Amino acid sequence: MSVKKCLFPVAGLGTRFLPVTKEIAKEMLPLVNRPIISYGVEEALSSGCGDIIMITGRAKNSIENYFDRSFELEDLLFRRGKKELYEMMLKISNMAEILYIRQREPLGLGHAVLCGEPVCKDDYFGVILPDDVFISDVPVLSQLIQVHDRLGGSVVALEVVEPEKISRYGVIAGVEEEPGIMKISDMVEKPKLEDAPSNYAIMGRYVLSPTIFSLLKQQHAGTGGEIQLTDALRNLLKYEPVHGVVYRGRRFDCGTQKGWLSANIQLALEDPVLRDVVLEVVNGK
Ligand code: UTP
Repeated sequence: MSVKKCLFPVAGLGTRFLPVTKEIAKEMLPLVNRPIISYGVEEALSSGCGDIIMITGRAKNSIENYFDRSFELEDLLFRRGKKELYEMMLKISNMAEILYIRQREPLGLGHAVLCGEPVCKDDYFGVILPDDVFISDVPVLSQLIQVHDRLGGSVVALEVVEPEKISRYGVIAGVEEEPGIMKISDMVEKPKLEDAPSNYAIMGRYVLSPTIFSLLKQQHAGTGGEIQLTDALRNLLKYEPVHGVVYRGRRFDCGTQKGWLSANIQLALEDPVLRDVVLEVVNGK
């Protein structure tokens, strides 16, 4: 695999989860038995991206602490003979080398990506938006890297979405170059249904060319007063190819309370132990 670095923009305010996110990082909310962020980190690692860079902001210290050693806890678990838990703690803190960069103001996803420039400016890099949790046989980021390795250029993950949901996403125009692979010719952030150029929406996985950084610097605030990544990607199309891959796998949108709750219930139903708990509650037994 050619892409070794993966950027995690996690500096957003998470307003859709308020009041919880006033003090707690939404990426640390549990998805069944571990924090949302850990799914994304595992995906990056199993896609060959050993260098992880998190763009963080205020109220996100718990992410750093989660992936760090916790000597007191480890010592306590060890002394009490809780071997399995002790080893679990060590495994988490040894999972990855993570670099943290602070986005001082939440000026948008595009701006968060720009904060990664000092570390990512020399080569193509992955981007994972951890709110989108993917469960798939082949990690979704790795599906994108494979297309990048074969066809070159930047790559985004695509999903065919229902018309009533299209205005929530970045939407592409393009032609199918191979089954499931689109050559993108244009894109627009959160279009009205009548303005949407297709029903292919961009989901939270990217392989980006470092050229994006100079374009992000020129970018003015777009939809919602934020510096939008989609606007810079649209600009990138003038200079370099951008492909879209209709990912193979299941996506759980954990960026909203409804999506997060639904993901927890669906995945708990697939867990041999928790399944019965959910069914008991739902069936009122
Ligand atoms: P979202 O659009 O989901 O925004 O950002 P948000 O702040 O996380 O959540 P809401 O909409 O207020 O509820 C998409 C991704 O971009 C990151 C977020 O952390 C998330 O992973 N982001 C967004 C930043 O890192 N910085 C920003 O300034 C904005």
